[in-house]
Amino acid sequence: MKNSLTILSGNANRSLSGSICKELGVPLGKSVIGRFPEGEIKVQLKENIRGRDIFIIQSMCTPVNDHLMELFCLIDAAKRASAERITAVLPYYAYARQDRKDRPRVPITAKLIANLLVTAGANRILTMDLHAGQIQGFFDIPVDHLYSIKVLIGYLRSKKIKNLVVVTPDVGGIKMARAYSNMLKAPLAIIDKRREDEHSVKVMNLIGEVKDKNVILVDDLVSTGGSLVEAASALKKFGAHDIYAAVVHPVLAGPAAVRLKSSVIKEFITSDTIPISNEKRSKKITVLSVAPLLAEAIKRIHENTSVSSLFARASVEA
Ligand code: R5P
Repeated sequence: MKNSLTILSGNANRSLSGSICKELGVPLGKSVIGRFPEGEIKVQLKENIRGRDIFIIQSMCTPVNDHLMELFCLIDAAKRASAERITAVLPYYAYARQDRKDRPRVPITAKLIANLLVTAGANRILTMDLHAGQIQGFFDIPVDHLYSIKVLIGYLRSKKIKNLVVVTPDVGGIKMARAYSNMLKAPLAIIDKRREDEHSVKVMNLIGEVKDKNVILVDDLVSTGGSLVEAASALKKFGAHDIYAAVVHPVLAGPAAVRLKSSVIKEFITSDTIPISNEKRSKKITVLSVAPLLAEAIKRIHENTSVSSLFARASVEA
């Protein structure tokens, strides 16, 4: 059965795809992804995949629209090449923050992307730390939703930080923060923030106690860094000691890398769901790999064995 597994990758995160293949002990499937002169995306699979179980790895990171189009083209190519089953492996699912109509006349892009993936030909989805768990319900095909918490918690535990408190920089992140707080056996505090626009946020209140404590600020993603950096400086004002940030998806848009570097955050712990360019890297940033977790899930999906033990977070967030 193993022979029928083929991993393909878009250009978004080749390094993660390589690590996943290494974990699985399979070579990366051959494909060429280029551009036509006018910029359109050109894809060709360079091996026979008829009747195979195909996993297409693509993170929806910057340039997000190009990476999405690559993904759709790869799925379409695999479908037309008679793949038996196509799983879109999406370490980072973008457009996820627009998951409801919170203002008049706006799209629900998280649902739109789900529709486009299915229309392209995806038969199932494997993804990680969705911005909102209910996005799974935007698909009428199977979705396996993994959490990176075990990877991040393992590292945090190894640091043996004493006198901890887990803080979420906004009320929407309470479930995630509660899972960290339960697993680290540390109390929980909540920041009540207001977003002024896409680029800036303002901390309004703190619910909980951080005075003289070391803080782990947890979030699913950092985009401009506004939420995290504002939260960290507010926590310092409330008397916190060392501040660590544990964030799954390092989107790091615009000023984020500079903001992080000059912030009061002691260490920014993240994953490789999105690659971080050399210009954005700094000594503060620690990247942990989710490749073993994704590889294990791919193996289990391929072998039709249970993936639920990899979901890990659901049992500790209650
Ligand atoms: C909010 O709901 C998210 O979990 C993040 O806190 C937020 O999107 C991060 O955005 P930024 O880094 O631009 O503040």
